[in-house]
Amino acid sequence: MPSVRFRLNGVEQDVEADPDRSLLDILRGKFGMTGAHFGCGAGECGACNVMVGDRAVSACDTPLWSVADKDVTTIEGLGTSEQPHPLQRAFITEQALQCGYCVPGILMSAAALLKRNPSPTKQEVKEALDRNLCRCGSQNRMVRAVLRAAEEVAAG
Ligand code: FES
Repeated sequence: MPSVRFRLNGVEQDVEADPDRSLLDILRGKFGMTGAHFGCGAGECGACNVMVGDRAVSACDTPLWSVADKDVTTIEGLGTSEQPHPLQRAFITEQALQCGYCVPGILMSAAALLKRNPSPTKQEVKEALDRNLCRCGSQNRMVRAVLRAAEEVAAG
């Protein structure tokens, strides 16, 4: 069985698996990282989003081979209960979580945005989250939360 090396949440990993398997399948099945959720399975909903480098990608349609030698960050690598990421704190403050199914993917899209652009405009936040679907209608609160997190990070 071929193997693929990549860094997962900062830790070097060597995975023996079919390189054509989806990254989502590998993250959930091999690493028990179940924060990235299966939604549409077709790259349309964003529930499975993770970060590869500084970009949010849908893990459901990302083949394992394509992340060779890259940095993959999942929601498990973003923050902890003890030390939440500013985005996680802001989502709680703005009460931006409803059912929560889409939230890990949305947080990873937002984290990728802030990595590339630490002071986004409201429009830029909306555009970054445009491909993440939320059926609970929390989008406005989520946009406010991302802007709040950006302000918090900028203030140090
Ligand atoms: Fe991957 Fe919907 S489950 S984009």
